[in-house]
Amino acid sequence: MTIEFRSATTADIQQILALHARYQVDTINEADKADGFITTAFDKTQLTELIEQEHGLFVALKGNEIVAYAMAASWGFWSRWPMFAHMIKDLPNLQYKGYVLSTENSYQYGPVCVDKSVRGQGVFEGVFSFALQEMSKRYPVLVTFINKINPRSFAAHTKKVGLDVIQEFEYNNNQYYELACLTNRT
Ligand SMILES: CC(C)(COP(=O)(O)OP(=O)(O)OC[C@H]1O[C@@H](n2cnc3c(N)ncnc32)[C@H](O)[C@@H]1OP(=O)(O)O)[C@@H](O)C(=O)NCCC(=O)NCCS
Repeated sequence: MTIEFRSATTADIQQILALHARYQVDTINEADKADGFITTAFDKTQLTELIEQEHGLFVALKGNEIVAYAMAASWGFWSRWPMFAHMIKDLPNLQYKGYVLSTENSYQYGPVCVDKSVRGQGVFEGVFSFALQEMSKRYPVLVTFINKINPRSFAAHTKKVGLDVIQEFEYNNNQYYELACLTNRT
């Protein structure tokens, strides 16, 4: 299976929204929920901004089909969602590998989504690494969060791509891990 990784263009938005809808909490098949789901909903305008202003949408293609995406953007982009506003306020209290975290030295990675037809085949690692490499040009530290009810995502991010847990927190009655890694791995 040949998979191509690249930055998304606005021409990809329709396919990305279709992939997103298959695994977003409001529209996912009940049977798929055990392998994780995405909470945040996105619309075409937000994805256009993510692509054009943030250069923060990355995709994996199998032929012409988008089989995975990873998002990454400045905290400014994410701040419209209350959960991220909460995380931004807490950044100065967090340290990671010599950095006191800030909106300047870190960005928020995620969500990430891999279609179930290609899970467990390296597509996750591929799209993560591509996104990390691109974002390393702008930021030294990746920050993200994972809901504790998503053990598959937690296993993938801690065992396969080496993210470190930097704290645990509660928001809106949900329990989360907050994780980080350096973007420069050489
Ligand atoms: C999370 C996601 C991106 C990971 O990609 P993936 O291709 O499924 O990841 P992999 O299969 O390579 O790795 C997952 C690991 O978790 C393990 N795993 C699977 N289910 C698990 C569970 N319920 N509990 C613990 N570990 C689990 C797998 O066995 C695998 O490890 P292994 O290869 O050592 O066996 C993908 O499953 C996905 O898109 N899920 C739906 C959307 C989502 O949850 N996104 C993340 C939101 S933070």
